[in-house]
Amino acid sequence: MRLELDWMGEMKILVVGGAGYIGSHMVKWLGQHGCAVTTLDDLSSGHREAVLYGEWVQGNCGDRALLDQVLAAGRFDAVMHFASFIQVGESVQQPDKYYHNNVVNTLTLLDAMRAHGVSRFIFSSTAATFGEPQYTPIDERHPQQPLNPYGRSKLMVEQLLADYDQAYGFKSVCLRYFNAAGADPDGQLGERHDPETHLIPLVLQAASGRRRQISVFGNDYPTVDGTCIRDYIHIQDLCAAHWLALNSLLQAGPSQAYNLGNGSGFSVNEVIETARQVTGQPIAVDYQPRRPGDPARLVADASLARSQLGWQPQFSQLSTIIEHAWQWELQHCKLDN
Ligand code: UFG
Repeated sequence: MRLELDWMGEMKILVVGGAGYIGSHMVKWLGQHGCAVTTLDDLSSGHREAVLYGEWVQGNCGDRALLDQVLAAGRFDAVMHFASFIQVGESVQQPDKYYHNNVVNTLTLLDAMRAHGVSRFIFSSTAATFGEPQYTPIDERHPQQPLNPYGRSKLMVEQLLADYDQAYGFKSVCLRYFNAAGADPDGQLGERHDPETHLIPLVLQAASGRRRQISVFGNDYPTVDGTCIRDYIHIQDLCAAHWLALNSLLQAGPSQAYNLGNGSGFSVNEVIETARQVTGQPIAVDYQPRRPGDPARLVADASLARSQLGWQPQFSQLSTIIEHAWQWELQHCKLDN
């Protein structure tokens, strides 16, 4: 994978939501690759100390006056947008929260960018825009019929970005993550959601003793062992995809959406067993009923990102993903308690 940017001079990137799990890893990546990076984050779920590089601005991307100030000062070459609410269940209970933040605030950001002549945008989208898979692995031609307000909020932004390209020549790359996982291989950053709902950090909290057990939601799915299958993709590989997408936009590449995953699925039971091997700890399991809205199997076909962007996941082994997340859990199980 070729990671040199075809760009002269220092690049300036605004990272919205740069204090969150994926955003903070991206800020570090950009800082380490010589970019001038500014983070805008309201700390509604992120952590100030996770922003290791660049300038810091605390605020919400729905605040147009603040955006005008930041964009006028910055002369940014591109914006990466990670700030969104991500809990599927909560989105069903409080759709207003999801549509306001994930759609309306994003629209405010896009319009502020246009007003300031910034027209390159990289957007965090999700496998949840596809809904129940009609076939797997899921490629970009798969119909998008999201099952919940979270997925719909992300799809709405994808659709309005297509319209903005058509009408205004506004260029964007939408990156549809499957299951983002793992942590900074240097151990400086990792996943810290509150509440934590994702499988791998919860399994590792059970391994470190922060939790008594891991609840497995459903073991009667039509899969190898009855538990759901997901495609776990390392956070560093996601950062690399953003970097390559940025390079594509800088080279006047077209607006495009890409599915990002390893292309291999692991069941919940396989994740737990791998975590037992990596950590050397027993992990107690409590089988619960299915969680509403969980498809049995979500696996990406990422061949478009491979062929068009030259993307090649470097940390595709599940054991490596879990190993990096475990190093992070070992550091933080003491601090967060
Ligand atoms: N799971 C458990 N127990 C838990 C947590 C999760 O059994 O305590 C299971 C889930 O039922 C699912 C799998 O582990 O089968 C993975 O669940 P996650 O919550 O870690 O991830 P999801 O696949 O539900 O969600 C991820 C992203 C979402 C995104 C979705 C796209 O986190 O933001 O993929 O489908 F919407």
